Amino acid sequence: MEVIGRSFTGAEATAGMGGGKKVYRVLITGGRGQLGRELQRLLEQAGVEYEAAGLPELDVTDERAVREAVRRAVEQARDRGRSQGQGEGHGQGQGYGRGPARAVLVIHAAAYTAVDRAEDPAEREVAARVNVLGTRNVARACAAAGAPLVYVSTDFVFGGEKRVPYEVDDPPSPLNVYGATKLAGEQAVREICPQHYIVRTAWLFGVHGRNFPKAILEAARASVTGGESRGGNVKPLRVVNDQVGCPTYARDLAEAILLLAGVEVIDPQGVRVVTGATRGASDLAERVRATTTLPAPAPFGTYHITNGGSCSWYEFAREIVRLAGWPVEVEPITSAQLNRPARRPAYSVLSPARLRSVGLELRPWPEALRTFMAELRTHSPELFPEGG
Ligand SMILES: NC(=O)c1ccc[n+]([C@@H]2O[C@H](COP(=O)([O-])OP(=O)(O)OC[C@H]3O[C@@H](n4cnc5c(N)ncnc54)[C@H](OP(=O)(O)O)[C@@H]3O)[C@@H](O)[C@H]2O)c1
Repeated sequence: MEVIGRSFTGAEATAGMGGGKKVYRVLITGGRGQLGRELQRLLEQAGVEYEAAGLPELDVTDERAVREAVRRAVEQARDRGRSQGQGEGHGQGQGYGRGPARAVLVIHAAAYTAVDRAEDPAEREVAARVNVLGTRNVARACAAAGAPLVYVSTDFVFGGEKRVPYEVDDPPSPLNVYGATKLAGEQAVREICPQHYIVRTAWLFGVHGRNFPKAILEAARASVTGGESRGGNVKPLRVVNDQVGCPTYARDLAEAILLLAGVEVIDPQGVRVVTGATRGASDLAERVRATTTLPAPAPFGTYHITNGGSCSWYEFAREIVRLAGWPVEVEPITSAQLNRPARRPAYSVLSPARLRSVGLELRPWPEALRTFMAELRTHSPELFPEGG
């Protein structure tokens, strides 16, 4: 691993493309979503210029608006490059090639993510408009501007028939409308925009937005509060035990995406902003101080990015309740007992092999969950027992 001493000033991000110094501007679609917010937070802390566009100001189903947003980002990056004395054609090295547009990275995190609602015949078209048409629009705009694109996809493109982790080139076979539309989005990206990263992830959680750990904590609180009024009869939480996947901390995913694309997230003091993703360094101190590792963008293509290890929703819930300290039992049930509108894969563990091959790895999910729970305790104390 190359180690080069250097210092950073704010408003600059550097990619190690054969030693070429690049100014980046990152354009995020779905900027107010769970992942979008974490990307923003990292870029903010690192002083990297970005635009996080959400609804209503950037609707990805509006082709013209998307084209204009990407074009504007390229313009702004070009101006910034000029003001820093970096002429056009500065981008030597693999990955992004030459030209000012290479200074822009587009992260397409906008999506229709209501998995059960998408099964409603009236909603299918809405899901397809956002996840397929919207993605096609973003891919076209990036291809036209020569800007690399990160498209965030899902473990739900797989059918769950395997019992060993899915590799990036395993054949997809989605079981639900959401998974099918996300897969069609992948296909559009591959066809339209050669400079792409397709990043499949799974079971996201973060402090912003709705997610499984927060839902479990709300249910645990309701159960305990309700139990108190029922004379101590605390109802157990019933959680499915026949779906196995990879919980993923949105913050770790955000960092890994930026590292994959060659954007180092370093604060003005020269310290890596977060430590959930590593580039080969396993020791925590080394990770925190891995500031001098000049990142290079990984080759374009498809990657799986989740926290390490796997579990069922039931096992995940048990750990959440235990860490929070709620005095509630968690009971395993089957998917058939829960009877949700959308079918889900019984097994959708994503193999990190391709990610490892470019020197990146995320920490195991229980470690990421502990960090998240500590953060959530400060952010949303009402989800935790008093004095717990
Ligand atoms: N959450 C998971 O467990 C999970 C698992 C695997 C993969 N993923 C993928 O990871 C990515 C990020 O997920 P997330 O959890 O951050 O999702 P999220 O919180 O639902 O965020 C998605 C964002 O996209 C916005 N959006 C919806 N329609 C749009 C449109 N037409 N134009 C522009 N923005 C639009 C949403 O806005 P509104 O809220 O206003 O609708 C929301 O802010 C998505 O691509 C998702 O498919 C998520």
